[in-house]
Amino acid sequence: MSNPVTDRCIVLGVTGSIAAYKAGEIASRLTQWGAQVEVILTEGAQHFITPLTFQSLTGRKAYTDADLWGGEGHITHVGLGRSAELIVIAPATANTLSKLAYGIADNLLVLTVLAAQCPLVIAPAMDAGMFQHPATQAAVRILAQRGVLLVGPAEGRLASGLIGRGRMVEAAEVIAAARWLLGQRGPLAKRKVVITAGGTQEPIDAVRVITNRSSGKQGYALAQAASDAGAEVVLITAPTSLVPPYGAKVIKVRTAAEMLDAVLRETHDADALIMAAAVADFRPRTPQTQKIKKETEISSLELETTPDILMAVAERRARLGFPRRVIGFAAESEDLLTNAQSKLQRKRLDMIVANDISAQDAGFEVDTNQVTLLFADGRVEALPLMGKDQVAEVVISHLIAMLS
Ligand code: CTP
Repeated sequence: MSNPVTDRCIVLGVTGSIAAYKAGEIASRLTQWGAQVEVILTEGAQHFITPLTFQSLTGRKAYTDADLWGGEGHITHVGLGRSAELIVIAPATANTLSKLAYGIADNLLVLTVLAAQCPLVIAPAMDAGMFQHPATQAAVRILAQRGVLLVGPAEGRLASGLIGRGRMVEAAEVIAAARWLLGQRGPLAKRKVVITAGGTQEPIDAVRVITNRSSGKQGYALAQAASDAGAEVVLITAPTSLVPPYGAKVIKVRTAAEMLDAVLRETHDADALIMAAAVADFRPRTPQTQKIKKETEISSLELETTPDILMAVAERRARLGFPRRVIGFAAESEDLLTNAQSKLQRKRLDMIVANDISAQDAGFEVDTNQVTLLFADGRVEALPLMGKDQVAEVVISHLIAMLS
């Protein structure tokens, strides 16, 4: 498994904030994903965390200002700056933010940033008052205008004990931002890809719904894979507890009708639509606005069919040509290939991902999937049992081929 972080050279700058402990997790995760992580600690950072921590996590030397003045000192910052494909500074203090904004170069980290030509991600961490100070706000504006990606700070409890905006965001968000930024020049750059995920919910009354066992995992994995390939991702999602990829536009819906609206709105100019959602086929004909009381003793529920989203998309695509490519899913418990083939044709898809939901390791709720891909030109490709993120990578690689 690889992602845009794999094999990239990333400089991680750590400055003097209590949030420095979160930098350990960032260094660890990026290293696990196969990045070459070069850590630079400022003087202040070393009051909170040691170079040894990072050396142990990355397996590489961690740099400090002591490395500025050795025999190799004059080239250390230039070497690090030139080889960096991304610089992440997390946590970044008010002091470092202002130095970066005005090009002050009095330590190894800020010198390295000046010598570098790569993108920069900064996760500020400081007291709320310091973040609000006009001097810090001016620095933030300058950096944002220069194209620096500022992540956070978040609201929450601060080291001072006060509540306010100044906390460094969680490590996971910084890691996700780095991954997103490194994926930006991928093969789907400037392509709009709309992906649906999760199982829709159709109301019976004010508290009850009809839904299905879809977890949304396959749809979210597709959204991540498309984002990794540089796509502008729109994720239209039924309720789930999953975390969407960084940078994706997320539209939350509940019902099939809401999903239809969102899909039609977002696909009129899209390069692709991937319908991974498990859309309810039936909904209660007259949902009650109040909670139905037990005494009512309902014995049956009258249902009606929901709109077929892919059929509506096919009809509009025939007139407008958008979305340019459409991929559907077929969840089947019997006659997998015959049923999938008929859906491929009926819904006028370019490709359908057929999965046998009767298999234990595939389909709903689990992390693995075993699917067969059927194409409009008659090709059939059976994939072995694999993780849903790997299935997503394969599907996205086919989408890349279809769009190029
Ligand atoms: N789908 C859709 N709108 C619906 C139902 C399904 O767009 N109202 C999409 C799904 O997201 C999926 C594909 O159609 O990409 C196939 O869904 P599936 O439930 O397998 O097929 P159905 O058309 O609902 O047929 P059946 O339930 O009879 O198998």
